[in-house]
Amino acid sequence: MSNLRRAKITALGTYVPPRVLSNKDLEKMVDTTDEWIMERTGIRERHLVEKGMATSDLAAEAARKALVQRQVQPKDVGAIIVATVTPDMFFPSTACLVQHKLGAVGTWGFDLSAACSAFVYALQAGAQFVCTGAHKNVLVIGADVMSSVIDYTDRATCVIFGDGAGAVLLEPANGDSEGIIDFLHEVDGSGGCALYMPGGGSLHPSTHETVDKKMHFVHQDGQAVFKYAVRKMAEVCDRLLTRNNLKGSDIDAFIPHQANKRIITATADRLGLRKESVIINIDRYGNTTAGTIPLAMETACQEGRLKKGDLVMLASVGAGFTVGATLLRWAF
Ligand code: UT7
Repeated sequence: MSNLRRAKITALGTYVPPRVLSNKDLEKMVDTTDEWIMERTGIRERHLVEKGMATSDLAAEAARKALVQRQVQPKDVGAIIVATVTPDMFFPSTACLVQHKLGAVGTWGFDLSAACSAFVYALQAGAQFVCTGAHKNVLVIGADVMSSVIDYTDRATCVIFGDGAGAVLLEPANGDSEGIIDFLHEVDGSGGCALYMPGGGSLHPSTHETVDKKMHFVHQDGQAVFKYAVRKMAEVCDRLLTRNNLKGSDIDAFIPHQANKRIITATADRLGLRKESVIINIDRYGNTTAGTIPLAMETACQEGRLKKGDLVMLASVGAGFTVGATLLRWAF
């Protein structure tokens, strides 16, 4: 990346729908307890959309806030990338719907599907347009309405997920003292069967049978994903740190995908991160898939734990399997 300019995050906006589903609410829906959910996942509550609200609504709301924060007009956005696994529909892309909702006339964009790693993948994809000089302003949005693909009679999955979105604006950095430094991404399709939604695609198009067999819901082998996530999140972060001559203790803010508090703390321990650098907000939002990392950035900012110049590491593991880690210097 040395011959190109860096991209930096210059604004952040988030949105979660107002409706809250608490662990106590879930106790009335499935055979679970607040204690089990807190102990095994760290989640206390999550936000869910009302009927009729879709991923593009959350995404547009988050993007609007980011643009207002930076005083950038929608017409000046060069490209919009929406990271999501729950698009409003197969097509048109959610990016097109967001473009229209924002009034971002003349821009282009696309959706990026990488489940829980989609935000870090989209961040990198967006950064390339800035690095090459193709665009000055790129909106990268992570947004998911997981409640649209969750079986609320399945206690193994319904307690975990929530709905939410976050958006960042990418612009050219001023030199090498700020912005995105490096990334390390991997996919491992052998893990596809551990976390997936079987129905509705070209392999199993929607039929009465696919609905009856609950094929339009998230299916997860929780333990398999858990073990892979603990191992791989630490491994990619370690490799990324090592090749940048850094140690875990150099990181000012570790902002990981929020899938399970135990995955985050195990990773932090393995990497030797300082406890105060680890950002966790899964208690408030649950796992919002592509939304978790920008939502955690917002929490870090609100709590005064993310300041200009801070060395930040983002990390994720998700369905696919997809794995990603990013190093950057926070720029505002
Ligand atoms: O973001 C995408 C990536 N996803 C992840 O990273 C998720 C990774 N996996 C996990 O976070 C965890 O595996 C879960 C939170 C999904 C499950 O936690 P676990 O500690 O792995 O539980 P388990 O699946 O091993 O189940 C342990 C017990 C079982 O009962 P038995 O067989 O021991 O009697 C489950 O039936 O807990 C039971 N159980 C529950 N009990 C109360 C499963 N879900 C619940 C529940 N409430 N909601």
